[in-house]
Amino acid sequence: MISSAMEEALLTQLNQEFYSAYLYLSMSAYCSHLEFNGAAGWLKLQYEEEHTHATKIYNYLVEQGVQVILKDLDKPPSDFGGILGVFTASLEHEQRMTSRLNDLSDQALKEKDHATYNLLQWFVNEQVEEEASLGGIISKLKLVKDDGYGLLMIDNELGARKLVETAA
Ligand code: FEO
Repeated sequence: MISSAMEEALLTQLNQEFYSAYLYLSMSAYCSHLEFNGAAGWLKLQYEEEHTHATKIYNYLVEQGVQVILKDLDKPPSDFGGILGVFTASLEHEQRMTSRLNDLSDQALKEKDHATYNLLQWFVNEQVEEEASLGGIISKLKLVKDDGYGLLMIDNELGARKLVETAA
């Protein structure tokens, strides 16, 4: 049993995870259009990963006896000003998500809701990994700047990513 305030906060977070998926799909479409097919593949896997995050919260809410009433999704941007802009926008998005998850964790602790707190810690840990991997990509992109060969190498490297199932 979770409080109605926590129920509402988790429904909002569920919406944010779906928005994250939608944002990454829009970024993938943008990269496909620019012929950065490796980056497009990387971002499509990220879209799928965000979908598993949303499902993890959905399953938790159902287990807690909540009727999940889905909220509207915002329209994501479709122009990111180049490949570096895509990954910079990703990192900024993930930093906002980390801040939300920290606030949610504070709320769970305040309510002594340890089950929800445990769920949220999985997400908090996941954010560390996501921010680190985006930061690494941004560093490489800044290093090569407009060098075509360097960009091609990074795109190939991004294209080698495999989906890791992270959510139950
Ligand atoms: Fe759902 Fe990008 O973390």
